[in-house]
Amino acid sequence: MKEKELQKLFQSLTLKEKIGQLVQLSGEFFGSVDEVSTGPAKKMGIHPEMVSLAGSVLNVAGAKSVISIQKSYLERSQHKIPLLFMGDIVYGYRTILPIPLGQGATWNPELIQENYNNIGMEASKAGIDVTFSPMVDLVRDPRWGRCLESTGEDPFLNSQFAAAVIKGFQGNLTVNNVATCVKHFAAYGATEGGREYNTVDMSERRLRQDYLPSYKAAVEAGSKLVMTSFNTLDGIPATANKWLLDEILRKEWGFDGVIITDYAAIHELIAHGVAQDEKEAAQLAINATVDIDMKTSCYANQLEPLVREGKIDNELINQAAWRILCLKNELGLFENPYRGASINEEKFMHTDESRTKALQASRESIVLLKNENNILPLDVKKSKIAVIGPYTNSKSIVGMWSFHGKQDEFTSIQDAFEKLDTHNIKFAKGCDYLEDYSILGSFGKMLNPSNESTLDMEQQTLQAVKLVEQSDLVVLALGEHMLQSGEAGSRTELELPRVQKKLLDTVAKTGKPIVLVLFSGRPLVLTNIEKQVDAILQVWFPGSEGGQAIVDVLTGKFNPSGRLTMSFPYSVGQVPLYYNSFNTGRPISTSQHSDRFLSRYLDAPNGPLYPFGYGLSYTKYEYANLSLSSEILNDETTITISVDIQNSGSKAGIETVQLYIQDKIGSVVRPVKELKGFKRVFLQPGEIKKVIFEVNEEMLRFYDKNLCYQSEKGDFRVFVGHSSQEYLEADFTLI
Ligand code: NOJ
Repeated sequence: MKEKELQKLFQSLTLKEKIGQLVQLSGEFFGSVDEVSTGPAKKMGIHPEMVSLAGSVLNVAGAKSVISIQKSYLERSQHKIPLLFMGDIVYGYRTILPIPLGQGATWNPELIQENYNNIGMEASKAGIDVTFSPMVDLVRDPRWGRCLESTGEDPFLNSQFAAAVIKGFQGNLTVNNVATCVKHFAAYGATEGGREYNTVDMSERRLRQDYLPSYKAAVEAGSKLVMTSFNTLDGIPATANKWLLDEILRKEWGFDGVIITDYAAIHELIAHGVAQDEKEAAQLAINATVDIDMKTSCYANQLEPLVREGKIDNELINQAAWRILCLKNELGLFENPYRGASINEEKFMHTDESRTKALQASRESIVLLKNENNILPLDVKKSKIAVIGPYTNSKSIVGMWSFHGKQDEFTSIQDAFEKLDTHNIKFAKGCDYLEDYSILGSFGKMLNPSNESTLDMEQQTLQAVKLVEQSDLVVLALGEHMLQSGEAGSRTELELPRVQKKLLDTVAKTGKPIVLVLFSGRPLVLTNIEKQVDAILQVWFPGSEGGQAIVDVLTGKFNPSGRLTMSFPYSVGQVPLYYNSFNTGRPISTSQHSDRFLSRYLDAPNGPLYPFGYGLSYTKYEYANLSLSSEILNDETTITISVDIQNSGSKAGIETVQLYIQDKIGSVVRPVKELKGFKRVFLQPGEIKKVIFEVNEEMLRFYDKNLCYQSEKGDFRVFVGHSSQEYLEADFTLI
């Protein structure tokens, strides 16, 4: 629709109709064909008239349902303004990608972009207009279950992935694409103690330096929506935070799209203790320029009285409703309210093309953490192999945010092994994921109401050990239960579930070599189990093609290339733990103080077990000849940094060359190093390639002592290498 027509339509709306646009309700409010469901409306205390005016729907998917709801809604609607269908298509619709923490480990945003384009197509065919993705919260605390949804602890890397996901999903915003909603704005990853829905508090410098860049990158990549986070920032909940939403997001960054709350977040302003009641909560949120109220009655019931009583400016509602209408128009809903929704949706789901791309992403997400005596890759023709553990034949390999996937389309490890032409591989479950499902709360009761008896587990273990004894080597497929991470998956212990640890101990006693295939939605603490096994493959939740990807890596069909984007701690007591930290005044390596009085733990090293950027391969890469085109940089010049990488092993592989920079002296303390670039290079055995990076003044900017974003003259160090801890280094000066 032309803007003029849209304006005309807008002018014809009453205040109530405009408020309706600001209300988002879930599917149960809309009768399937021709009725507004009154039950849920009554429960929420919202008038059926408001349901019939609501502007958007939460988490309804499937072309049939979407078309039917839209059709009956429009039939009853006076102005024929279509509903917007929004949903959590976080990392897959029918084709499920590896979890974002695994996507980060690919260091391959281009591949991730292509994959999101595919899953965006699936979602749009199922009637989704807007996806609540990407989640770009920076994460430094693996106790938080939502590390799973993030690409990790680095602002630069997260920003690359934020842009990739948005470009993939949104494309040119045709009917084959969906609009994105970046979340959770802002700094939700810094929730205290890693506990879900908890407080966040940090300096403005840290916020701007580390936490905001990925959201900003998402806005710059054109994300149409932003979702507020559940947390407070400096004592103000994000959903009521005018400084954050209006000053920074809208005015400073120029975001003119739609801001939506997280689920029920306006009402939660009361529990936070910043609003007396729903009315005050609605007032705070609309003043902060929040456009859509997800799933509460605050806007629906309170905005009209607030305007009438002169407590809020009518203009705030006009602006919010206008932004929502513009989004609907941009998505072409006025011309085609069903957009991509296709009664032939099946044809577009889990296609060969999307499976192939997802398989590639899964393979590239896998990180080889240990490979003693090159026990991997496996020789399935020569060795007798026992594949043991609850993940052996599991389809629960997709992580929590994958509601629309179909288990019968997923490939388990056993499925993939069985395709190989060998009789050398035998399988046994060994034990269940958990000894007690009640730790998963209401989810646990759903999954295992009776709680499987431990006797069964003992028998399973005996059977598995028998297999192990007849084999040359064991592949142990263990890990967190899929629901131990994800939303509300906070944990204080980051070990393997006890029953699985017991299985590992029992298998280790046989003395057979062990390859651990480890599933998790976060870094686990592997300090003890690392000693018991010969190899570790960190496979995250690898997605619908996960089993195949794992077997491809185990057998050497694919040479692992994944690199960690979150540090793996030695001990949970170290967290938050991240590579781009400060030195402190008493650094452990260079301070003159006696060892007792250094910045360190008495009972653990300072550093991680496995650092940021780390990951092994079946070949070896050697770095040499780091050279800088100049040791002097100024505002107008560029330094070219080059390094030679040689594949000195016998297998072709992909090396991710990482560039870090340290600003040695600043007006404020600067991190020990910061990622500034990376390049993936494919190398045949023996091959040498020169890799080149360019460094300019802009890359050296930061928030100085006056919170101005600029560089400061002085000395810098560059590190080019295989990880944040293995590199060559050189110095230059900015004049
Ligand atoms: C709550 C979660 O925090 C958010 O990420 C999600 O998009 C919404 N619920 C909607 O389901």
